[in-house]
Amino acid sequence: MARETKMEDLIGLGHTKLGFFKEVQVKIRELQETNLKLEQKRQQVQAIIDGITDVMAVVTLDFRIHSVNHVFYTTFSRSSPIGEPCYHVFRGQRRPCDDCPMIAAVENNDTCRRMHIYNLKGENRQFEITASLLRDRLGRVENILLLKRDVTVEKAYQAKYYHTEKMATIGLLAAGVAHEINNPLAAISGFAEGLKRRLPRLEARLGIQPTDISLKRDFREYVETIMAECNRCRDIVQNLLTFSPRSRVMRSAVDLNDLTVDVIKILEHQLKKKLPRAICLDLSPSLPPVSGVVAELKQVVINLVLNAMDAVQEKGTILIRTFPEDDRWIVLRVKDTGCGIAPKDQDKLFEPFFTTKPVGKGIGIGLSTCYNIIRQHGGEIMVESEAGEGSVFEVRLPHQEG
Ligand SMILES: Nc1ncnc2c1ncn2[C@@H]1O[C@H](COP(=O)(O)OP(=O)(O)OP(=O)(O)O)[C@@H](O)[C@H]1O
Ligand SMILES: [Mg+2]
Repeated sequence: MARETKMEDLIGLGHTKLGFFKEVQVKIRELQETNLKLEQKRQQVQAIIDGITDVMAVVTLDFRIHSVNHVFYTTFSRSSPIGEPCYHVFRGQRRPCDDCPMIAAVENNDTCRRMHIYNLKGENRQFEITASLLRDRLGRVENILLLKRDVTVEKAYQAKYYHTEKMATIGLLAAGVAHEINNPLAAISGFAEGLKRRLPRLEARLGIQPTDISLKRDFREYVETIMAECNRCRDIVQNLLTFSPRSRVMRSAVDLNDLTVDVIKILEHQLKKKLPRAICLDLSPSLPPVSGVVAELKQVVINLVLNAMDAVQEKGTILIRTFPEDDRWIVLRVKDTGCGIAPKDQDKLFEPFFTTKPVGKGIGIGLSTCYNIIRQHGGEIMVESEAGEGSVFEVRLPHQEG
């Protein structure tokens, strides 16, 4: 009996152990499946993180970098930043930055967005930074997640767009004013002409007394001044009218080389007086034509050269180059070694009536007229300048198709 019981116990025990082992096996399988799923999830998260093209960094509350994604290494540095202070790694500073988005995020208990400029490989780049709080299970802030997005190109396009919009609005306004002024101006100029024609008759009726002679002289001088000033106003109005959308203007194939040579001839009188041998031409012999309005394109070159002349005065040099670029553009570059343009003025150059010249020297419509003409020709105008060093104005026009 005792022996049977022992056997049953053993069998029972065997069953229990078997059951236990089976349970263990099931648990192991479950764990393996869970592990597999976790690994798959981890790989998915990794793929998402790798797909993010922004720089990501997890930073501890004492400003030490805890981890970064692969973009960090291609954007900032090839060496590992782990454990380094973020202010040193990103900005080369010795203490936390004054405008640190992490500090703001912690203080406001909320995500913080800031713009920072980093100098990467000698080039200033604009980054949009987002600092988000990473919390533990109890909701306490543990670390900060920094996302840094390079928005340099985006910002440049935005600025260009705003500038174009602004110019279009100002342009319409200027053109409107020009249209309004055109009629009274024509009347003033017409009546002045009429007075001039009647002057001989008026003079014949006056005697030879000194008062009569001075009256004659004054009349003639005043009428001539009115007419000269009217002509000046007509030129300004004509320039401003280039801002209005044109309906139909005759375009033709224009050789920018010939046009430049013509312009220099026109200005020769002035050049000889002011700048002996200061202008050099480097015109590409194989320049395809552009489709354009000769008179308008001449105006562009005249304005650029006159500005360069004002900038260099009697000392510097001016180089005018033409060349084709990328099978698509014809480039005209006017480079001078003149006074250059202060950074604060560079954004305003193409606005109508922006001038740094004294009253009577300039009214500030040269470059805005160039801007409009070039835009209406489907091209673009750009400037690079350093105060005290000189300026380069570059006009790009699409070359004539077909
Ligand atoms: N080559 C240059 N070098 C330095 N500054 C320049 C140059 N070209 C333009 N500028 C700056 O841009 C301003 C605007 O030029 P813009 O040609 O529109 O007007 P302006 O020359 O002052 O007057 P105007 O209506 O007679 O042309 C100038 O007053 C000058 O400050
Ligand atoms: Mg000018």
